[in-house]
Amino acid sequence: MKILLIGDIYSLNGRMMLEKHLPKLREKYKLNFIVANGENIAHGNGITEKYYHFLLEQGVNVVTMGNHTFGNNDIYNFISDANNLIRPLNLPLGNAGKGYVTIKYNQITITVFQVMGRTFMNGSLDCPFNATDKLLEEVKSDLYICDFHGEATSEKVAYGLEYDGRIQIIVGTHTHVQTNDAHLLPKGSMYMTDLGMTGSLDGVIGVEPNSIIKKFRTGLAVRHNPMESGRDQFCGLIVDIDEKTKKVNNYEIIKIVD
Ligand SMILES: [Fe+2]
Ligand SMILES: [Fe+2]
Repeated sequence: MKILLIGDIYSLNGRMMLEKHLPKLREKYKLNFIVANGENIAHGNGITEKYYHFLLEQGVNVVTMGNHTFGNNDIYNFISDANNLIRPLNLPLGNAGKGYVTIKYNQITITVFQVMGRTFMNGSLDCPFNATDKLLEEVKSDLYICDFHGEATSEKVAYGLEYDGRIQIIVGTHTHVQTNDAHLLPKGSMYMTDLGMTGSLDGVIGVEPNSIIKKFRTGLAVRHNPMESGRDQFCGLIVDIDEKTKKVNNYEIIKIVD
């Protein structure tokens, strides 16, 4: 089966790139299952119910979030009913939503979950490793897919090696920059430090650059306006899994610029 994982979909340009390219990719690769990161889909910050349904209508099976999960207040209106939306599993108790979802596809069960890294990330988080250990213990599944939402490459690599052979697909999100390190780990798991971003290519990870350059030069707080001109990108990864052995047959990096 062919699984497409899509990196952080950012604002208007990300939604446009998705609408333009996902139908072609679905047709070309005969995709069976799609996981997409939607933490920036609403004006760069969070998600609304409208955009959650937009993703489902595009054929996305599971929407993952991240540190911007609660960036748009609309999420509180629908997160408890959103069966196919997950936020980091290692958020402390008391947070709304859930950290994993198990979906039956043909004869196999697929568990998609997200953990968030703790290095160079703000906010209070439980240990992503402990949260994963608990999940693997309690939720039995034929296939596990993890979206590791984090900043530090080392933390993501360490996580990948720790769960090599136990979680079949481990891909990173959050940095919005696609890494050139997709590979199979020694025990056969698919690993990629960051899928990259789906949205503007000429902004600063999605944001209009002049304000961000000013922020770096002066240290002043600036408004983050999504970049809506220039070129766009669609970033992700397609993983072909053998449905019988649950092993990775093949993979292909997706980076479309236009
Ligand atoms: Fe993001
Ligand atoms: Fe993020």
